[in-house]
Amino acid sequence: MPVVSSQSGPRQEYEDLFCADLPSRPQPKMGKILVTGASGYVGGRLVPELLARGYQVRAMVRAASPEHEARWPRAEIVVADALEPADLKRALKGVHTAYYLIHSLLLGPEEFSAADIQAAINFREAAEQAGVKRIIYLGGLGDIQAALSEHLRSRIRVAEELARGSVPVTVLRAAIIIGSGSASYEIIQDLVKKLCLILIPYWARNKCQPVAIRDVIKYLVGVLETPATEGKHFDIGGADILTYEQMMRIVAELLQKNRFFLHVPTMNIRFFAYVGSLLTPVPAAITLCLMEGLANEVVCQDQTIKRLLPFEPLTYKQAIVKAMSREEQDRVHTRWSDAYPPAHELALKLHEMEGAAEYTASSSLLTRKQAPALFRSICMVGGKEGWFHNNWMWRLRGKIDRILLGVGAARGRRSLSSLAINDVIDFWRVEDLQPDRKLLLRAEMKLPGKAWLEFTIKPQGTSNVLSTTAYYHTTSFFGRIYWYIFLPFHNIIFENLIKQIEKRS
Ligand SMILES: NC(=O)c1ccc[n+]([C@@H]2O[C@H](COP(=O)([O-])OP(=O)(O)OC[C@H]3O[C@@H](n4cnc5c(N)ncnc54)[C@H](OP(=O)(O)O)[C@@H]3O)[C@@H](O)[C@H]2O)c1
Repeated sequence: MPVVSSQSGPRQEYEDLFCADLPSRPQPKMGKILVTGASGYVGGRLVPELLARGYQVRAMVRAASPEHEARWPRAEIVVADALEPADLKRALKGVHTAYYLIHSLLLGPEEFSAADIQAAINFREAAEQAGVKRIIYLGGLGDIQAALSEHLRSRIRVAEELARGSVPVTVLRAAIIIGSGSASYEIIQDLVKKLCLILIPYWARNKCQPVAIRDVIKYLVGVLETPATEGKHFDIGGADILTYEQMMRIVAELLQKNRFFLHVPTMNIRFFAYVGSLLTPVPAAITLCLMEGLANEVVCQDQTIKRLLPFEPLTYKQAIVKAMSREEQDRVHTRWSDAYPPAHELALKLHEMEGAAEYTASSSLLTRKQAPALFRSICMVGGKEGWFHNNWMWRLRGKIDRILLGVGAARGRRSLSSLAINDVIDFWRVEDLQPDRKLLLRAEMKLPGKAWLEFTIKPQGTSNVLSTTAYYHTTSFFGRIYWYIFLPFHNIIFENLIKQIEKRS
């Protein structure tokens, strides 16, 4: 199966389920359950829980990938864009309950709100037409009376739009979600790791009630199994109410780092978010929305859910410890970077190009090493392992990309030992993966063109030819200049890279 490869084999999707101690009972005869945003951070963890509880699940994704079938072999996969009503009609056909987990944060602060509202309107209308019985939506916490950030306001407006129709909507409202791979967790952890002096601006002294991803999943599944929650709104939160400074202090204590916190009277949120994006793997579009959210107090006002679904949510410290141990064990199931960047829909796949890519640069070597060993070595590139040689050049390219508000190289990778189509590797994304034969990466950094990096292994007699090829396509004059300026560096980098891959395999 052209899906998950490398050292540890396929991602074990149904291990470590969160809902085992949920007080509600599974109701597998309920009918078909649609999970929208299945490729996202929350949706990707909800699907296996529902499958494990015996539900018929249809997972909605925007782009087909063989990885989805491999991850959830018992789920039906539907490819649909919520901005296309015809797609939604297909996705919602025969659905009993639909989870609404669609969010376009990666479109950036200027565009996500309008896209999210339109998607909600389309979804409400399509759900009504399809005779859906229930919608369950996970939105953001925030006092409607307060001057909310654009991000939190938009989350509330999505709830309002969904509820305008005749299908009852259960709304769960959460503050920041803590778990391995969550953007908030990675930002807090990285800032604590990298900064000795942490500035706390006045707008970040509000209280927040973070919630562990496992508790979010329990609430999402619990409301499905509790009819009394139909059509109602609930606040969900963890066991602690903390300031951001307290959250960072807890992480510093766990990491055994002495950190100094300095309260500063003012600091521009945009500037802070920009610096935060340079210091952490999370791009500026997300850090800005999350940091703007710090200016609001996000604490549960309503405790009704605790009566309907009585279980003890984790404390912040427990949630962090669990996230850290998942990372240590290299078992991060979903990550904020799993959702596609805004350009994805327009992203041209290498095989979709008319004719061959205009520019290519290739390096090859003949080796007696076996294809599986070579392929395992190829699949280790990037992330904490680095690029085996000339690492500073890759890091520099990543930093330049971050300064230009690109994704940068700090995104790393979800897992050190396994790789799947659509996984992120620093500023690349896996476009194709054919075990023991080929790994194709598509560039997501800022470029005056489109670029791919391909690794191939081809048998030749009793040996193998290991090659790396950079493909580049541009239509601009500057794009051509860019190619020729970087060509000598590319030649050095790629030649050394395959030598190292061969050596390490
Ligand atoms: N993560 C948190 O810390 C947090 C905290 C509180 C509340 N929430 C809420 O939880 C929900 C899910 O969040 P998340 O963190 O899982 O988000 P996420 O990782 O950014 O995922 C968003 C999902 O929405 C999909 N999507 C975006 N535009 C779409 C469109 N036009 N049509 C179909 N699908 C589309 C994305 O698909 P692609 O992969 O194709 O882009 C992706 O699967 C959101 O409502 C969010 O407000 C999250």
